[in-house]
Amino acid sequence: MNLPSRVRLVDVGPRDGLQNEKQAVPAAVKVELVRRLQAAGLQEIEVTSFVSPKWVPQMADNAEVMHGLRRPHGAPRDVRYSVLVPNMKGMEAALTAPREAWPDEVVVFGSASEAFSQRNINCSIAESIERFAPVVALALEQGLAVRGAMSCTVGCPYEGEVAPERVAMLAGLMKGIGVQRVDVADTIGVGTPLKVQRAIEATLAHYDIDDISGHFHDTYGQALANTCAALEMGVWNFQSSVAGLGGCPYAKGATGNVATEDVVYLLHGMGIETGIDLDALVDVGVYISAVLGREPVSRVSKAVRAKRAV
Ligand code: HMG
Ligand code: MG
Repeated sequence: MNLPSRVRLVDVGPRDGLQNEKQAVPAAVKVELVRRLQAAGLQEIEVTSFVSPKWVPQMADNAEVMHGLRRPHGAPRDVRYSVLVPNMKGMEAALTAPREAWPDEVVVFGSASEAFSQRNINCSIAESIERFAPVVALALEQGLAVRGAMSCTVGCPYEGEVAPERVAMLAGLMKGIGVQRVDVADTIGVGTPLKVQRAIEATLAHYDIDDISGHFHDTYGQALANTCAALEMGVWNFQSSVAGLGGCPYAKGATGNVATEDVVYLLHGMGIETGIDLDALVDVGVYISAVLGREPVSRVSKAVRAKRAV
């Protein structure tokens, strides 16, 4: 296997993780979660989304979260905050704040399946690209980075299996409007290694391997295997969620992202650098899970804590 020596992880817990929580999570807790993730070594964090509060009430405090964030002082490297933005209304809201409360990266999010596009953002794939185009243009003009999340790249809760050609089509559309890098997302965690590799292969028709990230939900327990399959192809950017938080409210039955703790343990065990302190990360997962009143959904977290207790 030709493995990368270093992997960059985006923790999407504060956004993908918390967006699905029914109970109110105060903005101060979200800000503290981000602070603790930074302290554990995360350099990229998806902090919130500028979507309709009627659709996703949990993210209605987006402005408060952005204002509360504090970049680490004296940290050896910078931290990058990303936010989801579905349309110009969201983009304008994200840029209303003073510059220090702006995100570093804007994430437009489309789907390789028509049905999921309709359910998630209430428009067709073609319409979504029309909505994203001015968002991307404005972000680039303002010096912000732009990422594109591609949902349902292997399976859709409404359409079943998704063909790689659909993924290539979406990646081409994203490229066409200036999206700089894309996430190959298994939204409902149904993918297995070869299917995920086919989705990545399809994306390679439009993006370099350095600009492709893996975003795997762990519903069927395949996310670590899928991570290895992506690593084998040279992917070195991944998204994961501390304590395995999360799920999409418009993807019924889908559970959280693969736990960041599990991915970090896997990578370190393979001699791949992440810059993340696993022990500190386990504590972050315990912190947010305690707030939510449950155990972290991470085998590694459980094992580390069991070992500590001995
Ligand atoms: P719509 O209803 O078609 O929008 O929703 P609209 O333009 O017709 O506007 C309707 C109302 O929403 C209006 O308010 C607008 O002002 C307001 P009203 O006049 O009724 O009071 N509105 C907004 N408010 C705040 N911010 C905005 C905004 N836009 C319109 N940006 C829309 C379309 C996209 C807004 C809606 O469908 C939506 O917000 N969807 C959110 C979907 C979402 O957040 N899903 C979860 C994230 S995606 C995900 O988790 C997958 C990912 O992790 C990758 C993977 O795993 O696959 C990324
Ligand atoms: Mg997701």
